[in-house]
Amino acid sequence: MDDPAPVPPVSAQALPRDAQSILELAARSMFDLFANASEGMLLVDREARVVWINDQYRRYLPALGFEREEDFVGHPVSAVVQNTQMHKVLETGKPILIDLLTNRAGTFVVSRIPLRDASGAVIGALGIVLFDQPETNLQPLIAKFSLAQRDLDEARRELATQRLQHGGKRQSKYTFTSFVGTSPAAVEVKRQARRAAQSSSPVLLLGETGTGKELLAHAIHASSARSRGAFISVNIAAVPDTLLEAEFFGVAPGAYTGAERKGRDGKFRLADGGTLFLDEIGDMPLVLQSKLLRALQEGEIEPLGSNQLIPFDARVIAATSRDLVKLVREGNFREDLYYRLNVLPIRVPPLRERRSDIPALVEVLGEDMAHRSGIAQPEVLPGALALLSGQRWRGNIRELRNVLEQAAMAGDSQRIDVPLLERILRDTGLEQIAPALAPSAEATTGGSDLLRPLAVQVAELERSAIQAAMSATGGNKLAAARLLGISRATLYGRLENPDQ
Ligand SMILES: Nc1ncnc2c1ncn2[C@@H]1O[C@H](COP(=O)(O)OP(=O)(O)O)[C@@H](O)[C@H]1O
Ligand SMILES: [Mg+2]
Repeated sequence: MDDPAPVPPVSAQALPRDAQSILELAARSMFDLFANASEGMLLVDREARVVWINDQYRRYLPALGFEREEDFVGHPVSAVVQNTQMHKVLETGKPILIDLLTNRAGTFVVSRIPLRDASGAVIGALGIVLFDQPETNLQPLIAKFSLAQRDLDEARRELATQRLQHGGKRQSKYTFTSFVGTSPAAVEVKRQARRAAQSSSPVLLLGETGTGKELLAHAIHASSARSRGAFISVNIAAVPDTLLEAEFFGVAPGAYTGAERKGRDGKFRLADGGTLFLDEIGDMPLVLQSKLLRALQEGEIEPLGSNQLIPFDARVIAATSRDLVKLVREGNFREDLYYRLNVLPIRVPPLRERRSDIPALVEVLGEDMAHRSGIAQPEVLPGALALLSGQRWRGNIRELRNVLEQAAMAGDSQRIDVPLLERILRDTGLEQIAPALAPSAEATTGGSDLLRPLAVQVAELERSAIQAAMSATGGNKLAAARLLGISRATLYGRLENPDQ
């Protein structure tokens, strides 16, 4: 692969006439295609002298410092195009299929291809400008690449986790310091989680998606007496129902043919001496709930296809974004299992209940993003920060991270400002209004509450909207006004005289 043999030239004599003319046509079509679709083409001869440029290429001449075509064509390419690599292609006979070329005319994505005669000798080279302004033209590609890179990072981390799990020395990746937040709600949740770490009873983490339940589970494990044991997690929602039992309890040798012939340890077994994190427990099928309950009660598991009971010693932390009490009431979650898991319940607050943590989170998430992708940490301008602070954040911190990532990738500079953010929020379909501006849950559900004079209700709503905007922006009136879509004068007026 390092040193490919030169492609044998198409030998005209060796081909039947038909094939020969088709090949010639193909070569011509390719050439025309590149000539038309690219930003410019340039041809050099064996001596690296420019012998031809096309109309598109001619546009660059002034920027390269040439008024007349004669001053460019006919001259050595290295004398007229700074930083050119065309001579390399001539020397090595190898194409440079894609490269970035920067010179006084700008930065270009270029391709350089050697040209050979019928005997295979290099007789010149073709330079193609694929794009100019790669920052703009390649943005979608770069954005896609960053996303792919992120997925790859995640997959690698997961893989490393699994390897460590099987090696039995799995370390937890988060501690309580990873849980960013100094708001009263964040401090309280950390206090409860720290207390849970001191005990060995089951913990139940309840909260919307993206609030940090998994992070807390790791942190609890890491500061518990079992921190030297494994932290094993199962995302119940992600495993097909039919595979869950084997995933949990393992498979005895010989139970199946094929890949499972040798048997396999279940997660309970792997978590022996450590912590077993059961994520999305609300999604567990009823049949398996009974088996899980039995395992928890007896402290023993029965691998599939065996009739032996194996004792296990794992601390269970369960989490769900679903309303478990409602599931119990509807008969979709076993009440006895609920009580067994609900020994130390911790409610993890949604982001909108701790908006004052948003600036710190933006900082930490930005830092982390920059660290992982190698880009500079984006600077979030005050107005944009205010806008972020006012969102509803249904997807909580995970969603905040996604929005920041997209904004960082979409911008032309490292700055994230209000127009850019508004565009991202619109594109990602998030609401732009603070919850206080939308009818609140209480106002829409409490029927009698709505049967009061409209003016009073409007005034109330307005007051709470202003309050929310002021607290979201840390008292910055200009930012609050912008968030509310009113002028600063109007905001001042309302603040001074709330009843008008
Ligand atoms: N308090 C926090 N500080 C910093 N990052 C957080 C915090 N809470 C959550 N995150 C990050 O947000 C993302 C979602 O968190 P996760 O624990 O997976 O949420 P959940 O399990 O509740 O869906 C993760 O990338 C996590 O690292
Ligand atoms: Mg989760």
